[in-house]
Amino acid sequence: MTAYLQASGVDVSFGGLKALNDCGFTVQQGKITCLVGPNGAGKTTIFNVITGFLRPGAGSVSFKGQTLDGWKPQAIVAAGIARTFQNLRLFVDLTAIDNVLASMPAQTGEEPVAAIFRPFHVASAQRHRRVEALAILNRVGLIERANDFTRNLSYGEQKLLTIARVLATGAELILLDEPASGLSAGALDGVMALLRRLQDDGKTLLVVEHNTRVVQQIADDVLFLHQGHLMAQGTPEAIVNDPALAEIYFGGTI
Ligand SMILES: Nc1ncnc2c1ncn2[C@@H]1O[C@H](COP(=O)(O)OP(=O)(O)O)[C@@H](O)[C@H]1O
Ligand SMILES: [Mg+2]
Repeated sequence: MTAYLQASGVDVSFGGLKALNDCGFTVQQGKITCLVGPNGAGKTTIFNVITGFLRPGAGSVSFKGQTLDGWKPQAIVAAGIARTFQNLRLFVDLTAIDNVLASMPAQTGEEPVAAIFRPFHVASAQRHRRVEALAILNRVGLIERANDFTRNLSYGEQKLLTIARVLATGAELILLDEPASGLSAGALDGVMALLRRLQDDGKTLLVVEHNTRVVQQIADDVLFLHQGHLMAQGTPEAIVNDPALAEIYFGGTI
């Protein structure tokens, strides 16, 4: 059977440092897979490889049986994989809805020529896009913030907006880099509920997460990365209760 997402033998070096060392794993369609491991384990680096921001020195990534090797980030988004960044990378001087609109795939009618010769078509396409953007903001719980400037949103709301932007791409496989970090307990519950709703919508999620409570509550499958290599894979219970992994992760207590 073809794996949904498969990384195999991935090496990435920064100077003398091996950030990824023969890194390989699979992600199953429709699941929430959490990627855990100590700081510097290579979690963000493997995201960068999967999404085409970084070319590995060796190894490959395939999605639904098709290699992504050498693909540019935009081509990978078009193939159905999109990600958030640890540092949010939002347009803080734009409104929430404009951040979502900026992530939607370009449509005909955006060219000035079409706007002149087919103005009604263009206006209707733009209205349609706004309706779609509002539906996405509603999905993540930000509908009431649609017209607010992003810089005025709380940190938790800005994190939700990064997820809205990923949804706007239409991607089916969503990579989230620490979606729960820095959130209050209430905001955390909101994000966990949202991730489950996205799973119900048919999305596949690969999530870097440090909070073991979050991992235990949302993960179907856990990948444990250590020194750039997949050290273990299993259910949240198996990974969290493994004393050897706890020692690596937290120096003894998980
Ligand atoms: N652009 C870079 N240049 C040099 N070293 C890097 C770069 N990106 C990551 N690293 C190093 O690679 C290792 C893995 O980093 P990263 O993937 O960010 O870890 P994680 O996300 O698991 O905390 C770390 O030692 C980090 O310092
Ligand atoms: Mg990281």
